[in-house]
Amino acid sequence: MGSVDENSLRESTGQAATAPLAYQSGFGNEFATESVPGSLPVGRNSPQTAPHGLYAEVLSGTAFTAPRAENIRTWLYKMRPSAMHAPFRRMADGHVRSGPFIEVETPPNRLRWDPLPMDLPASADFIDGLATIAGSGDPASQAGIAVHVYRANASMTDRCFVNADGELMLVPQQGELLVFAETGRLHVAPGEICVIPRGMKFKVELPSGAARGYVCENYGAQFRLPELGPIGSNGLANARDFLAPVAAWEDKGRTEVVSKFMGGLWAAEWEHSPLDTVAWHGNCTAYKYDLARFMAINTVSFDHCDPSIFTVLTSPSGQPGVANVDFVIFPPRWMVAEDTFRPPWFHRNFMSELMGLVHGVYDAKAEGFLAGGVSLHNSMSAHGPDLATYDKASKAELKPHKIEGSLAFMFESRYVFRPTRFAMESPQLQKDYDGVWRGFKKHFSAE
Ligand SMILES: [Fe+2]
Repeated sequence: MGSVDENSLRESTGQAATAPLAYQSGFGNEFATESVPGSLPVGRNSPQTAPHGLYAEVLSGTAFTAPRAENIRTWLYKMRPSAMHAPFRRMADGHVRSGPFIEVETPPNRLRWDPLPMDLPASADFIDGLATIAGSGDPASQAGIAVHVYRANASMTDRCFVNADGELMLVPQQGELLVFAETGRLHVAPGEICVIPRGMKFKVELPSGAARGYVCENYGAQFRLPELGPIGSNGLANARDFLAPVAAWEDKGRTEVVSKFMGGLWAAEWEHSPLDTVAWHGNCTAYKYDLARFMAINTVSFDHCDPSIFTVLTSPSGQPGVANVDFVIFPPRWMVAEDTFRPPWFHRNFMSELMGLVHGVYDAKAEGFLAGGVSLHNSMSAHGPDLATYDKASKAELKPHKIEGSLAFMFESRYVFRPTRFAMESPQLQKDYDGVWRGFKKHFSAE
């Protein structure tokens, strides 16, 4: 082991909240960042008194005893300890729901929703506009996920959110976000994702006006990069393209902290902003990733690959190869397969699939699956290309073709997604989704 270069650690890599954004790169790295020179202790985590009068505090993303390869935790050096706050009081849940999802019976039907309209009241922030579409499992058993849509027309100013029930993956579909988390600030635009660890406080500001997108609330094991197997040591989402923020802080007064705990929303008044981290080190941090950096791998001979080839991040369930949730994208890519039906095939999946569309047209659905919408194909439900797509693709000349201008994604889970009452009673639930598979003719002939 080489000696620690103390001087390199004493460079000021962090910032006050007014400074331009800066990032550190790498997935799951042991990052180190300080906004004030000398604010990050060197050689120990918890000196008798932390530098610059700060308070040392650990945020554990896993059990202390989790295997080293999975273990995440971060040491935060804060202006005040997080413990200093009034009791939380229960507040209205709005359209936020949590597992167990038993409000309504889950039908075996294929379901699809148009985008939720942006008909929000004035000054609706990220928390106000959250609506749960479906989910599985429950936070108490740390298994399953919930899928929400967020809609917002106002920044969170004197309000923060923290989720003890799971980590949050934000998938913006419309409008940019400025996510200010306890480990720093991230700018996130449609085409990018942002992941915020369980238990980390953050607020969402809107630098370009109203915003809408999807949220995967992951009750289970934290997202990590999938194994690459025979693909080798490079490809799919590369570790270096994940960006973590540098330390950033604000020093201001009264803040309402909204906490999601065991499915309910709770609020407490703090005398200060909890976004007061002056320095931190560790591997439990908010991070972002530009999906355009995804190195897509696909067939160069024949047949349509299983969609797992497009897995960006995965949350394992404990059973090898069977995910609590996989985050899968369908990015721009060349289609070159010979003698192949190129769109996704007809199938019935052991896993359950909830899809969203950031922009463009998905290659298995000629129409009706809209940007900002949702489709749900639960375990063993038969689905695949619609009739228009089938007719076109089965007659198409198989020259190389590039799918461009489209970004669909899927949360694929071993657990069946149970829709909420809000989703099932929503006017955006399409009345005749089954109709897209109506009219396939029998062409069979034994001759
Ligand atoms: Fe599918």
